[in-house]
Amino acid sequence: MKLLVSGSLNYDTYLFVDNFAPPKSVVKQIKNYLGGSGGNAAVSAAKILGKNNVVFLGAVGDDEIAEKHLEDLKASGVETSYVVKVKNVLSGRSFIAVNRLGETAIYSYYGANEFLNVEYVAKVLENIIDKLEGVLIMNPPLEVATFIAVKSKSRNVKVFWDPGTLVRFGMTQLMTALSSTDYFMPNENELITLTGEGSLHKSLEALAKVNPKMRIIIKMGAKGSALYSLEGTSFCFTAAKPESLGLKTVSTSGCGDVYVGVFTALKVLGSSDVEAAIAATCASTIKASTDNPHGGPDLETLNKYLEICRKHINVRECWF
Ligand SMILES: Nc1ncnc2c1ncn2[C@@H]1O[C@H](COP(=O)(O)OP(=O)(O)OP(=O)(O)O)[C@@H](O)[C@H]1O
Ligand SMILES: [Mg+2]
Repeated sequence: MKLLVSGSLNYDTYLFVDNFAPPKSVVKQIKNYLGGSGGNAAVSAAKILGKNNVVFLGAVGDDEIAEKHLEDLKASGVETSYVVKVKNVLSGRSFIAVNRLGETAIYSYYGANEFLNVEYVAKVLENIIDKLEGVLIMNPPLEVATFIAVKSKSRNVKVFWDPGTLVRFGMTQLMTALSSTDYFMPNENELITLTGEGSLHKSLEALAKVNPKMRIIIKMGAKGSALYSLEGTSFCFTAAKPESLGLKTVSTSGCGDVYVGVFTALKVLGSSDVEAAIAATCASTIKASTDNPHGGPDLETLNKYLEICRKHINVRECWF
């Protein structure tokens, strides 16, 4: 066991529509996927690290969806024995309307995800922390995220954190967890929402005041990503289109989860930051060619595409 991933498990229902919400709307197509940022990232990391190297910490309800998640995580090589099963509660769900332009409107029902608590997580961590080389915190309840970050840091386990919607709590409430984070990985909108600053530059300055040693990866969709380091060099990475790898673009939803799952897995394997970011970019390009949020590549597939990805992913030093 090398990596612990904690965050949401959702059942994603995509509703394909022409336009968002005219008075009466027709849904053209429905597709269901096992999703949730926690599950997406755990599966992506397990595909790179192999069987039984990723342990998942999250919660499901007592419905059929719960069983589907557990089967799927196990089949992907994720250790599920610590997943909480909450009685008389539904598993988390996401309803994602996709319009003709490919834009999305997401409605999430947290359900069982909200029931993961610090008392339980403390017991689990005490059992397994000595075996861990990293923790990838996605979007568990904020007090759980904070506990995992602080505990792991105190035991020299590397802390990776993609805050997702937890940024809604703002800087003051995220301060303790941020102080214990090694790699913070929000997307650009989340970063600006978190700090309340008007620009990426000012947001990074605000974060540097909280934790100057923290590396920050900013995910920027089709524009690519950036790896910001206050004390070292910062790098920008362009994105690569699936077409450049001979694939078709289908859905970029969940690309961020694949990015952080693969980045973290490669760091656990000892890659440099730049190499891990190139591989994560390549993996998210491959993910964009399927609408399954668990559709990131395994290590063999990633290695097969890496050479051609390198030709399309431009890496340069950059400043903010
Ligand atoms: N339209 C796109 N074309 C090419 N690459 C993309 C595109 N969208 C995302 N990517 C790749 O995936 C990476 C992460 O995606 P993104 O910036 O959308 O993260 P995110 O907002 O956290 O996503 P999500 O939360 O939906 O998983 C990007 O840095 C980029 O490399
Ligand atoms: Mg995201």
